[in-house]
Amino acid sequence: MAVRGHHLLAALVLLTLAASATASGGRHHRDRGKAAARARARLELVPAAPHASLAARAIDDRHRRAYIAAKLRRRAAEVVGASAFAMPLTSGAYTGTGQYFVRFRVGTPAQPFVLVADTGSDLTWVKCRRGQAAAAGDGDDEGSSSSSPPTARVFRPADSKTWAPIPCASDTCTSYVPFSLANCSSATSPCAYDYRSPIESYMCQVLMLTWRRIHYPCGDRYKDGSAARGVVGTDSATIALSSGGGAGSADISSRSRRAKLQGVVLGCTASYDGDSFRSSDGVLSLGNSNISFASRAASRFGGRFSYCLVDHLAPRNATSYLTFGSSSSSSSSAATTQFQTPLLLDRRMSPFYAVSVAGVHLNGEQLDIPSAVWDVDQNGGAILDSGTSLTILATPAYEVLVEALSTHFAGVPRVSMDPFEYCYNWTGAAAPPEIPRLEVEFAGSARLAPPAKSYVIDAAPGVKCIGVQEGAWPGVSVIGNILQQEHLWEFDLRDRLLRFKHTRCAQ
Ligand SMILES: *[C@@H]1O[C@H](CO)[C@@H](O)[C@H](O)[C@H]1NC(C)=O
Ligand SMILES: *[C@@H]1O[C@H](CO)[C@@H](O)[C@H](O)[C@H]1NC(C)=O
Ligand SMILES: *[C@@H]1O[C@H](CO)[C@@H](O)[C@H](O)[C@H]1NC(C)=O
Ligand SMILES: *[C@@H]1O[C@H](CO)[C@@H](O)[C@H](O)[C@H]1NC(C)=O
Repeated sequence: MAVRGHHLLAALVLLTLAASATASGGRHHRDRGKAAARARARLELVPAAPHASLAARAIDDRHRRAYIAAKLRRRAAEVVGASAFAMPLTSGAYTGTGQYFVRFRVGTPAQPFVLVADTGSDLTWVKCRRGQAAAAGDGDDEGSSSSSPPTARVFRPADSKTWAPIPCASDTCTSYVPFSLANCSSATSPCAYDYRSPIESYMCQVLMLTWRRIHYPCGDRYKDGSAARGVVGTDSATIALSSGGGAGSADISSRSRRAKLQGVVLGCTASYDGDSFRSSDGVLSLGNSNISFASRAASRFGGRFSYCLVDHLAPRNATSYLTFGSSSSSSSSAATTQFQTPLLLDRRMSPFYAVSVAGVHLNGEQLDIPSAVWDVDQNGGAILDSGTSLTILATPAYEVLVEALSTHFAGVPRVSMDPFEYCYNWTGAAAPPEIPRLEVEFAGSARLAPPAKSYVIDAAPGVKCIGVQEGAWPGVSVIGNILQQEHLWEFDLRDRLLRFKHTRCAQ
């Protein structure tokens, strides 16, 4: 299924970290308060081998959007007191096929893992037992049983001196753990979670809506439907601290110091199924949630985190980072910030990071997209998501954008290529047209001007496609990680700001 030659699916593996002014002690020490504000932990993101074709990626994205839609719907239901969606839905993308991985050490002594770095997750979890995916007997035609999992690491809580289960009656379990089981026979029983979708048929409908131009196999194949069951506890994460290095540089000091981040909420997944778990050991939650790793780490490191995603076609050894604390060694973020816009930490959108889109411009001209599309109060809105590859626009925005873009490409022969609606034989054109400049404007006149390759995507040799997917309306639009590439994104949770600037990311 995967077009192996393509690096479109490059995954990023996160290595270990870098520096902090605070931790490096006297050398960079100025006054305590300021040092704390500049404290920094940096994790390296490096590309891993591509694991799937662009088409497979798109399917992941559709799972992903179903997950997003379901999760938002659940929250909405909670707000009005309904219980119809109190049980969770999850998706393949959510459970492990995201594209950005990070190396993460947890427990005492520390046990190393490779996790998907996911801004759409609230619970960090690791596998506690090897997978039974191959034994699940899904008889798929994709040779799933022939490819052995690239990783076989499991977390052993019993081997960690710092592991502490969270009781099921605790506030953390009942209020914050997503999809926690109501089953709490004794107050001290462990807090258990079950991500298996209890209403797959509903999810399937969501997928159909989300992607109605492509037949999505709701029947047998959906058995892949990811599931993860386990218990939640807290443990210490080991992070490496070292000094120095600018936002984009990769000079990891060999003399980096280690620090422990205590009380990290961690799910220990005892059973899971679905192919989604093959390439990672779990998920590192970067979502807007009390229990996410992002909020925990940001509370210690300057109230913010940032990442920079290298181009998905970059060489495997290109690296980028997930940074907790200030994204630059400069004490003033103004020096390194090109744009900023309010980060909407809206409970209704939690754990996703919503932004306020003011408009979309093509060659400087604003497209005529109804403002309701960007309005959370009208069941629209836009989120920034590290776990979605292709940007998904709700129908009214999608139609206007592809109409405007495709007009520019009218002279280029069309070819068909799943999952895209608009693909062109670029080498078949007498004179390939110039790709119009796309800008997404956010509240506060912040403008994201992605490189053309981020929205008119090289889908195959000589073939370019309009790399945007259509999402159901009403529904949320998702700014995917391809559109985010080659920018540094800083999530300032304390000041509720999203800062970004154009950069190559890799050193
Ligand atoms: C809930 O608890 C009961 C009694 O302990 C047990 O029989 C049942 O399997 C549990 N259900 C789940 C979903 O764990
Ligand atoms: C969770 O977040 C809310 C505000 O969003 C805060 O008031 C509350 O204290 C937090 N709870 C925990 C356990 O951190
Ligand atoms: C990355 O790999 C390419 C060849 O694949 C090599 O030319 C380049 O020097 C490498 N860069 C780094 C930073 O290792
Ligand atoms: C694109 O057009 C060229 C020239 O007409 C042709 O040789 C090539 O096969 C076409 N490619 C595709 C993917 O259709």
